[in-house]
Amino acid sequence: MKTTKLILILILFSTSLFAENDSELWLRKKATTQVNIQCSKSSPTIDIAINELKNSWQGEDGANIELKIIKDKQLKADGFRLSRTGIQAKTDAGLLYGVFEILRRQQTGGSITGDIVNPSYDLRLLNHWDNLNGSVERGYAGRSIFWRGIDSLEVTSGDLNLWKEYARANASVGINATVLNNVNASPSVLTTPVLERAKAVADVLRPYGIKTYLAVNFASPEVIGGLETADPFDPAVKAWWKEKVKEIYTLIPDFGGFLVKANSEGQPGPQNFGRNHADGANMMAEALEPYNGIVMWRAFVYDPSDEDRAKQAYNEFMPLDGQFHDNVIIQVKNGPIDFQPREPFSPLFGAMKKTTVMPELQVTMEYLGQSVHLVFLATMWEEFLKSETWQEGAGSTVARCTDGSIFNQKYSAIAGVANIGLDANWCGHDFAQANWYAFGRQAWDHSISSAQIADEWLKLTFGPQNIDKETSSYDLEWNLSFLQPVKQMMLNSHEATVNYMMPLGLHHIFSAHAHYGPGPWWAPRGMRADWTPPYYHQADSLGIGFDRTASGSDAISQYHEPLAGQLADLNTCPEVYLLWFHHVSWDHKMKNNRTLWNELCYRYDEGVKQVREFQQVWDKAERFVDAERFAAVQHKLTEQGMNAQEWKDACLLYFQQFSKQPIPYELERPL
Ligand code: GCU
Repeated sequence: MKTTKLILILILFSTSLFAENDSELWLRKKATTQVNIQCSKSSPTIDIAINELKNSWQGEDGANIELKIIKDKQLKADGFRLSRTGIQAKTDAGLLYGVFEILRRQQTGGSITGDIVNPSYDLRLLNHWDNLNGSVERGYAGRSIFWRGIDSLEVTSGDLNLWKEYARANASVGINATVLNNVNASPSVLTTPVLERAKAVADVLRPYGIKTYLAVNFASPEVIGGLETADPFDPAVKAWWKEKVKEIYTLIPDFGGFLVKANSEGQPGPQNFGRNHADGANMMAEALEPYNGIVMWRAFVYDPSDEDRAKQAYNEFMPLDGQFHDNVIIQVKNGPIDFQPREPFSPLFGAMKKTTVMPELQVTMEYLGQSVHLVFLATMWEEFLKSETWQEGAGSTVARCTDGSIFNQKYSAIAGVANIGLDANWCGHDFAQANWYAFGRQAWDHSISSAQIADEWLKLTFGPQNIDKETSSYDLEWNLSFLQPVKQMMLNSHEATVNYMMPLGLHHIFSAHAHYGPGPWWAPRGMRADWTPPYYHQADSLGIGFDRTASGSDAISQYHEPLAGQLADLNTCPEVYLLWFHHVSWDHKMKNNRTLWNELCYRYDEGVKQVREFQQVWDKAERFVDAERFAAVQHKLTEQGMNAQEWKDACLLYFQQFSKQPIPYELERPL
């Protein structure tokens, strides 16, 4: 008796040691009824699909559901047809996605009709900026779930469990690819022991329909291969990559390919050898081609030249349009600078017409309050995806310029820099889980509204059981007093953060490299100008903002007409981008008749007030949330409120030195 108890305690202890992430994310509903499932095929993926249906079914008790593989031209590889009696798909993964869709609709009160559901993008990837030593670049949710050191590569049962939970969460929102390591890639990632661990991850992810990719360092042939060069034209270098790729595919037969950050922020690249990005990317593409692997080559490039940083990627990549192999995809951050709280879209979208381009979004909130601030990113991404580029006439939104519907491209893809770590709630902030969820949902369907995503996520994550049974008064109450206000808070949260951090098109005014608090004054002696905020806000006695019109850097000319003309004119430039594109006088009259200075004060003040409101919304939500999550979110909102105040006071007091005008007296005084 005693020994059994001891063993039990030991087992409990050891599992808690291994599986640090104990949150079920949005997958917490257990079956309330039974379902009969027919499927003539069996595979690891289909077995998962069947188990998910059984374990979470909320539909009619005793319903019969048939899972069937069919041939159907209307379906994409991952797509499916849904009906009340079953799911039909072309692939096993399609069936799994169909299962998660049915379960989501059951749990969120959606209806199941005879729909065809196809994903917007073929490749829906997470990019983990995880280092092999276990740290995570710009990670705010604990250490890496994949790596814990180059001397600690053995795979434990805890690892396997965790990777399985991760895979399940991804599959449930349609994410089908993942890059296991940082774009600032260690060459060691391509050494055999590390590849063996990557193989172990890939084996867990595969049945969930997820392909594994690696970020690689361009200098790998020199650093770990012992070659004298990494010149992409050197035959020995080419041969080295071919051999390496062969080794990877022996371990991981469905390996997806490479992600490369080259000649950017000190990373090596083809330019070190007098070659260009196309030369480098194509050399790798050739090695991967026989296995259907791809290269995602990043366009995040800039150097400390006199040229406006916002223009540099376009300048460097446009001349190469048409020179890339068809298994190269250029990965472009949503905005031309760097994941700022709000940026206009990068002018490369739609402009590169003969090259596949994919958006890169940042799920981890490097510049948006990290894991402290509550910011629902779906609204920001929706704004981006629906941005009109005009590149192929009206309707050429960023979404349509990248999803294959306008340009003839072999692949379509979208990536999100993950916000996942070993923290018990995976993402550092309970509401940051919503951004992982939202990225997957928008990658699957870029036309879905942020409001729908917030609605779904709240129902799945905080919802009472049986949400569709409106007879229960608790459910009605929950809907009115929790769902509606909290959803509204989420939908307002991004704008609130822009207001208290960088309204009206201000950008990159953080203090130091941690990118957390305000620092519009931050400019240590000797620091690269383009790494300091004064470079971006350009405040002086006349006004504030970066002149990107023809009289300034002329970055606007990289956009297509009629957008370029609209942005160039102070009267038609959307005010949310005003200081991004113009240096504007302090007395400039805004659309609401306030002066620019007063409007800036009002915006900062509004942001602070919005967070105060969020605190109230959440406090009122207490009775609908478990104590632990309630307290955690409440605590973070308090900190966010203090931070918002600090942003407002710091920025206004600093900019006031230039405007030399009072903060309107009806607004709260700086603290
Ligand atoms: C940002 C970020 C870096 C990151 C880089 C990138 O600059 O601060 O940590 O490496 O983006 O996307 O490559």
